Amino acid sequence: MRIGILGTGMLATALGGRWARAGHEVVVAGRSLTKAEVLAGRLGDNGRAATAREAVLGADAVLLAVAWTGIDDILRSAGAPAGTFAGTTLIDPTNAVDHGIGVLRTPPGSSGAQDIADRAVGAHVVKAFHLFPAEQWSDATKPPVTVAICGDHPQALATTEALVRDAGSRPAVLGPLNRARQLEEAAGFVIGLTFRGFDPRDAVPHGVIRAG
Ligand SMILES: NC(=O)c1ccc[n+]([C@@H]2O[C@H](COP(=O)([O-])OP(=O)(O)OC[C@H]3O[C@@H](n4cnc5c(N)ncnc54)[C@H](OP(=O)(O)O)[C@@H]3O)[C@@H](O)[C@H]2O)c1
Repeated sequence: MRIGILGTGMLATALGGRWARAGHEVVVAGRSLTKAEVLAGRLGDNGRAATAREAVLGADAVLLAVAWTGIDDILRSAGAPAGTFAGTTLIDPTNAVDHGIGVLRTPPGSSGAQDIADRAVGAHVVKAFHLFPAEQWSDATKPPVTVAICGDHPQALATTEALVRDAGSRPAVLGPLNRARQLEEAAGFVIGLTFRGFDPRDAVPHGVIRAG
């Protein structure tokens, strides 16, 4: 696949590295072309730096690896209002949460993913990769995890499932994009407990849960 990555930080580096090693062409863009060039250099022969618009046009999938506060800026520079994302799989790993607290900044009843879908005209948005730290993808010795994803478009879900597998893990489709709030709250739950010193794995049941 040709994968566009918007953002040049920790998550872009981790997943970009994983996908480049899996043989995908990774086109990196950010508000700093210099940072994009540095990251592309780290990705080796399969990495290339470009403008945000170039990274999106012709991509099989785009990863929106930008801080929540920068989403509007990067979508605009990628040409979202003009429809550059139309029909493109747009993977949203963002966490619109207050750092260390885990409370979502998006109003009740909405989600970050839906907000992005509203701004990126015609994009096929899939919520994915928001729950695990970037080290999950940069450290190849980490055991596989289950990556819960959601979205409305079967082809975009299939593309994202393939990219989860190419990152060494198992995809699990939870449902349509209206489940994104739930996935985003799950991240807030994990972040909130972690910063209070609890292991979130100990705060959920293990094994089979019987109805009733
Ligand atoms: N790191 C993780 O473990 C992790 C895990 C799951 C999900 N996420 C999510 O993934 C996204 C990226 O996280 P990260 O850890 O990679 O963050 P990061 O290392 O801090 O990088 C943030 C990226 O966002 C860009 N950015 C910030 N404001 C911008 C703006 N106004 N316009 C354009 N670009 C802007 C930064 O550009 P500059 O470098 O130029 O400032 C940088 O490329 C976030 O939404 C985060 O919630 C992260």
